[in-house]
Amino acid sequence: MGLVHVSHFLIFSFPNISVMEQINAVITGVGGYVPDYILDNEEMSQFVDTSDEWIMERIGVKTRHILRPEQGSGVSYLMTRAVRQLLEKTQADPASVEMIICATTTPDYHFPSTASIVAGNTGLKNAFGFDMEAACAGFLYAMEVAANYIRSGRYKRIIVCGGDHMSSMTNYQDRNTCPIFGDGAACVMMEATTEEMGLLDGYYRVEANFEHLHMAAGGSAKMPSHETVDAREHFVYQEGRTVFKHAVTKMSDAVETIAKRNGLTKENITWLVPHQANVRIESAVARRIGIDEAHVMINIDHMANTSGGTLPLCLWEYEPQLKKGDKLIFTAFGAGFSWGASYMVWGYDGAAEAQKSPAQFYKEGEMSREDWYRLRHSEKSE
Ligand code: UT7
Repeated sequence: MGLVHVSHFLIFSFPNISVMEQINAVITGVGGYVPDYILDNEEMSQFVDTSDEWIMERIGVKTRHILRPEQGSGVSYLMTRAVRQLLEKTQADPASVEMIICATTTPDYHFPSTASIVAGNTGLKNAFGFDMEAACAGFLYAMEVAANYIRSGRYKRIIVCGGDHMSSMTNYQDRNTCPIFGDGAACVMMEATTEEMGLLDGYYRVEANFEHLHMAAGGSAKMPSHETVDAREHFVYQEGRTVFKHAVTKMSDAVETIAKRNGLTKENITWLVPHQANVRIESAVARRIGIDEAHVMINIDHMANTSGGTLPLCLWEYEPQLKKGDKLIFTAFGAGFSWGASYMVWGYDGAAEAQKSPAQFYKEGEMSREDWYRLRHSEKSE
């Protein structure tokens, strides 16, 4: 009786609203930004004992973008530019954005949040926002969080940023870690839809297993001091081989779980979008589900590992190839350990959108460093 009464009341009170309609969260635009300076393996091998050959063979990175102090500082510098491009491409009124989530491990400050700084810089005057710290899995988690705010029916338009100023915590005397990382940020607009598309499923996990991958000092457990600075404890510490094994196993298991749950096979997955930590990890995960590398987004060779930035930077770069209805599996793994995978049906044809403001980055062999700098400089003076 009670149920009948309640549903009767809802139908009577809201005749135009079907209470059964499922709200989904779909990406409707992508923006991105990478800083000007290009650090290639040749230059790196001048200050640390390494070589282009070793880095290409063991990691797959050729060049990385670095935010130099003379250009700017803080991850908000990168995210602000990414969000500006997103707003320009989507023509969304900044005042209509209700929330911004910034996934980063290199926030400008402990507080305030980077989200508050980026919101202020980009005119999101009706939004609230916060940072998400889940290392390299941050953007993956942040999309799920944003999608759930949208699924609740209360929010319709959210910006999700992912990015890191990794050079701010990279020890350029440590050859085990410094070739891996780069700086960059990208963002997506997530909006409500009643179509069967957008972020449809996710599998996420976290476990306290951080001795192999962490920054030892600077937080409340080990406050900064002269000793911690002298001991270089404000940089990334990583035991690569151990982390490698966890990354391959956990990302592969997560992808397999999501694929099975949603009837996804190598025949119908359009894109695998993996965290860009090491090209050998990406290949191993792709092999596990048998997907051809032509369907795997890979940009580690020129972007390196930008931590929270890797997944959205892939979308930014591959946007021209994305089509409405494409089936994507995202997967990421990072410190914590934090990891997972998600399933998304893409919501729009990317080619026309990307045309409005193409993704810009330096790619070895496609243009000279000088041409890249010239290109950036001519845009600034316009
Ligand atoms: O994004 C968050 C999650 N992170 C990851 O998923 C990263 C996972 N780990 C990795 O990607 C790889 O383990 C690394 C790229 C970090 C290291 O590659 P590796 O093939 O596992 O190398 P390794 O640490 O086992 O070192 C092999 C050798 C060592 O020399 P010996 O002891 O065999 O003589 C290292 O000292 O390579 C040496 N080495 C280098 N040689 C030249 C380590 N770094 C370098 C270097 N240049 N940059």
